[in-house]
Amino acid sequence: MINEKNNAVECRHLCKVFSQGELAVHALSDVDIDVSAGEFLCLSGSSGSGKTTLLNMIGGLDVATSGEITVTGKRLDKMSMSELADLRLHHIGFVFQAYNLIPVLSARENVEFVMQLQGVEAGQRRHLAMEILEQVGLTGLEDRRPSELSGGQQQRVAVARAIVSKPALILADEPTANLDSTNSDKLMTLMRELNASMGTTFVISTHDEGVMKFAKRLVRLHDGRIVEDEMIEA
Ligand SMILES: Nc1ncnc2c1ncn2[C@@H]1O[C@H](COP(=O)(O)OP(=O)(O)OP(=O)(O)O)[C@@H](O)[C@H]1O
Ligand SMILES: [Mg+2]
Repeated sequence: MINEKNNAVECRHLCKVFSQGELAVHALSDVDIDVSAGEFLCLSGSSGSGKTTLLNMIGGLDVATSGEITVTGKRLDKMSMSELADLRLHHIGFVFQAYNLIPVLSARENVEFVMQLQGVEAGQRRHLAMEILEQVGLTGLEDRRPSELSGGQQQRVAVARAIVSKPALILADEPTANLDSTNSDKLMTLMRELNASMGTTFVISTHDEGVMKFAKRLVRLHDGRIVEDEMIEA
């Protein structure tokens, strides 16, 4: 369902408080943001500013303390567990800081795994997996398990897995953290191409200036608040 304004994501007065014993950590304070469908947004901010927390909230992986989040026109807090699971499986691609690859599966099987859950037929799964692994520069390494790949290669498997079924929204938490600048540029170029060709909405957290130069919109967090929101390209 697309809402009137065609926003992929809407956050209203979003707050997240973690309690650490006696202490309350305000990870997000009164965050208001709309992300239109088709945006390519980079989320910056120093360590602890709330980037991962915001991505987790938008992806329905964690629950807000207060405020509202709407993803593709539906309020997350009104969704049942199964609706949330369906949203995560079919509409959102995740790339995490820790890649969350399944250790006993090869690169290709890791990429195929989500498609299997989505009910994609076996031949088609293999074809799409090989195609996307080639796009992220992993041809020849398809049969290796995560432990047999470098950090950067594992990161690319994680990205391939997130983008292979072409979800409407991709949430990426420091996707280039373990890549050298050449591979980082390649990955960002691939994501921008997907953004242009499929209209996929991207929200990407990063510390890296090299990544920010690919942004069409730059949002900066500081102590859980948005302190800068700049459109780079209309
Ligand atoms: N599960 C948790 N329990 C308690 N505090 C938490 C938890 N998760 C995050 N925090 C705190 O919330 C704040 C925001 O953390 P978050 O991980 O969102 O920051 P970040 O911007 O992603 O940082 P980094 O760049 O280091 O990844 C930090 O102060 C962090 O210590
Ligand atoms: Mg983080």
